[in-house]
Amino acid sequence: MQRLKVGVIMGGVSSEYEVSLNTGREMLKHLDPSKYEGIPVIINRLDQLIEGVNGLDFALLALHGAYGEDGTVQGTLETLGIPYSGSGVLSSSLCMDKQLSKTILRHAGIPTPDWLCWDSMECYDTDAARRLGYPVMVKPNAGGSSIGMTKVNSGQELRNAVLKAFAEDACVMIERYTAGQEITCSLLNGKLLPVIGIRSLGEEWFDYSAKYEQGGADEQILQLPAATAERVQEAALASYRLLKCSVYARVDMMLKDGVPYVLEVNTLPGMTETSLLPQSALAAGFTFSGLLDAIITGSLQERSCRQGTVVSHV
Ligand SMILES: Nc1ncnc2c1ncn2[C@@H]1O[C@H](COP(=O)(O)OP(=O)(O)OP(=O)(O)O)[C@@H](O)[C@H]1O
Ligand SMILES: [Mg+2]
Repeated sequence: MQRLKVGVIMGGVSSEYEVSLNTGREMLKHLDPSKYEGIPVIINRLDQLIEGVNGLDFALLALHGAYGEDGTVQGTLETLGIPYSGSGVLSSSLCMDKQLSKTILRHAGIPTPDWLCWDSMECYDTDAARRLGYPVMVKPNAGGSSIGMTKVNSGQELRNAVLKAFAEDACVMIERYTAGQEITCSLLNGKLLPVIGIRSLGEEWFDYSAKYEQGGADEQILQLPAATAERVQEAALASYRLLKCSVYARVDMMLKDGVPYVLEVNTLPGMTETSLLPQSALAAGFTFSGLLDAIITGSLQERSCRQGTVVSHV
């Protein structure tokens, strides 16, 4: 059988460049060589994508953040007719925009912390933030890896935090801080994998260092009480479906008094061997190679289904 030419697309132009290289290297290491020919495609500029994917059978996306996780690369690959991994254009764009995805979740009755969004410093309003209630998390609306985020405990700290988030994004979210147990729910081909509980060790919350430094966080598969587990499963699956995710995704939540509050849905979550989704998949019996296989197979099915839909309308 001929091996599939799989380009691992990594790097990119977002603040998560380094994280993406780690994801990409790990994917290349674990692609099953009997089925796939793994080809590294490192992107430093947007236009390199077109040449980089030329001749590939499949694009395995190791990108994170803007121009990678946000639907733009997916749109380009759709246009070029190259099947790619993970969610499609609309879902990727929606999930990248925390404000829009939270609006959809809230409308459907899925708990998510209260929030405000500001498009410029002209919107800056300490009274509105106070009404939300301190502490608040200030974050770039379309960020990732906790970059540009600050936990703000009082009005005095607000301005600097907002300026820091505006350095990363044209839209800044002010979100009510939800104290509780942090959990993350990974989904693979529409099914929930074991839930992981996260405890940041050196830091108060899951910031960049807690995420990526060795010993930064304790991440364990959680056994939740049955009623809570059911609520978590419902919220995770509903978020995945409402935001039209496909193949795989990771839903980040805070669990407070047994209620899961959805913070965000990641359509291209970190994929090193120690990242959360692979850990969760491992607990469900997937080796890293098996997980990549499931992602590629699921994505090929998803893309061929959609092409089928187009043809049937012609
Ligand atoms: N409203 C909140 N209440 C409590 N903690 C929060 C809140 N928002 C964010 N956090 C903390 O900050 C971390 C990062 O938040 P969030 O997932 O929104 O950002 P991100 O940069 O998109 O992350 P990712 O790397 O998962 O893409 C969370 O994992 C959590 O520890
Ligand atoms: Mg997150």
